[in-house]
Amino acid sequence: MARWTPDLKYSDITPERTYLNRRAVLAGLGAAGLVAGPARAAGFSVEEVPNSFEDITNYNNFYEFGTGKDDPARNAHMLTTDPWAVQIDGLVDKPGTYDLADVLDGLPIEERVYRFRCVEAWSMVVPWNGFQLSHLLDKVGVQPSARYVRFETLVRPEEMPGQRRAILDWPYVEGLRLDEAMHPLTLVATGIYGKDLPNQNGAPLRLVVPWKYGFKSIKSIVRITLQTDQPMNTWKDQNHREYGFYSNVNPQVDHPRWSQATERRIGGGLFTKRQPTLMFNGYEDQVAGLYKGMDLSQDF
Ligand code: MTE
Repeated sequence: MARWTPDLKYSDITPERTYLNRRAVLAGLGAAGLVAGPARAAGFSVEEVPNSFEDITNYNNFYEFGTGKDDPARNAHMLTTDPWAVQIDGLVDKPGTYDLADVLDGLPIEERVYRFRCVEAWSMVVPWNGFQLSHLLDKVGVQPSARYVRFETLVRPEEMPGQRRAILDWPYVEGLRLDEAMHPLTLVATGIYGKDLPNQNGAPLRLVVPWKYGFKSIKSIVRITLQTDQPMNTWKDQNHREYGFYSNVNPQVDHPRWSQATERRIGGGLFTKRQPTLMFNGYEDQVAGLYKGMDLSQDF
């Protein structure tokens, strides 16, 4: 994997990204009724009907572009996502600042339809395109002393109007325990419905951890650090009584100000009934083992 080369042009990168996402679509068998059929990895997708592209790209949380649900769709076009570099550092064998094309090089892009549950008690079903985070971490070589992964979003107030105000302590930061990061469900998304990821959804690279509340799925990532200590994450830093490090979807542990027992599926219309929230967002069989012996009401 080559290091960042400053002479690499915007135009060198975009076609590959588009190609990778398109290839994922073409290679797939095309589940009936979906716009994007997939190179869909077996065992990784739910059978539920995905939300529409319009819902997924017009009802967003991305505070760098404002706090309203429609602010990201309105403002995110200002963001330049090409060229894009990702610094990968800390306890890795091959630290460096990698161009996006080098990050993606050799990583299979798949389609995975995941449930997505926001801490605000709404949910969606999203057909992501992306690669397994573990494949990238294997590529850069995680050192034995690493126990956590820290992620950081771009800071660029000229293009991110929300960052001109102290809404949050920028940059937005998130973290995972290494075994969570290496779990096969943990995805780095590069697209939705076979199209390049729209800026409001976190272009060009965003994390997707489907058994955790949506805020763990950090957008527009520019830095990935392997470290020994548990990183502080933005929402816990903001209010540690309300938001923990783990933030696993858990209908039995309420947010101090509202119940987490049910959720509203976006796009269902005003009269759609709320549905019960599932333990680990329905991924219990796959991930419960990661938390054996932990008290999830304490480690929330
Ligand atoms: N990442 C950054 N950098 N900034 C944010 O404000 N919001 C989080 C998460 N990632 C956020 C972020 C929250 S609260 C949610 S619910 C999801 O992004 C929303 O992702 P979506 O807009 O693609 O549905």
